Amino acid sequence: MEIVIVQHKDEAAKIAADIVESYVREGKTLGLATGSTPLGTYQELIRRHREQDLSFRDCQAFLLDEYVGLPRSHEQTYYQTIRREFTSHIDIDDAQVHSPDGTAEHPGEAARAYDRSIGDAGGVDIQILGIGSDGHIGFNEPTSSLQSRTRIKTLHPDTVRDNARFFDDDESKVPHHVMTQGIGTIGEARHLLLLAFGENKAEAIAAMVEGPVSAMCPASALQMHEHVTVIVDTAAASGLKHTQYYNYALENKPTWQAF
Ligand code: F6R
Repeated sequence: MEIVIVQHKDEAAKIAADIVESYVREGKTLGLATGSTPLGTYQELIRRHREQDLSFRDCQAFLLDEYVGLPRSHEQTYYQTIRREFTSHIDIDDAQVHSPDGTAEHPGEAARAYDRSIGDAGGVDIQILGIGSDGHIGFNEPTSSLQSRTRIKTLHPDTVRDNARFFDDDESKVPHHVMTQGIGTIGEARHLLLLAFGENKAEAIAAMVEGPVSAMCPASALQMHEHVTVIVDTAAASGLKHTQYYNYALENKPTWQAF
């Protein structure tokens, strides 16, 4: 894992945008997360699209997850959220922005079909990830199989509480079920780019980077992946004990630029 610790999340957004841009310029397949964490990166990519001719026309995108039971027209579906926050502001073909179908009559079949569609597209080249305060990635809550595939999961009450801010601070409005890419599915993306900001992510980041690989911290599965970049602000990095290993540079260039 390459761990990059920055002072401020604006700096993280620029580095993340640099990384994603290199894939966009080659028309690669993007894996997108929702939630607050990637918003700065999306805004920076939108700015580069407007001001620097960064074109997404040859890209396609796959979302990590979706609430089960909300109609697609609901403003808090991830289908709507990613369009509002990102993809409607760039020139990606809307038909190429894919997400799990949280309204499917046969969710198990829809989940398997989603996995197949990622494979049929040749897999995800760069996957943007946030992390839950309990160490979840996608909506793979603790105890999720580290080899899991796209499927229905029940959200932990803490995650429901965390996400109530998007539902008028009313936990009763937050769906309790989601369809999420599995940890095995996420792990097939060729490059994982995980961002985390703020002190409430510090424990999860420490467990992910320095703890044992364990289903109790689903993000710890990233330790088994061959190409992971983690960008955190100092607050999210505050639980790390071994920072002497991080922020290393090759020929005076941070490694995300050197390779
Ligand atoms: C969202 C997702 C989740 C979030 C995580 C952090 O698509 O997959 O894993 O990344 O819950 O959420 P924020 O960024 O809102 O703190």
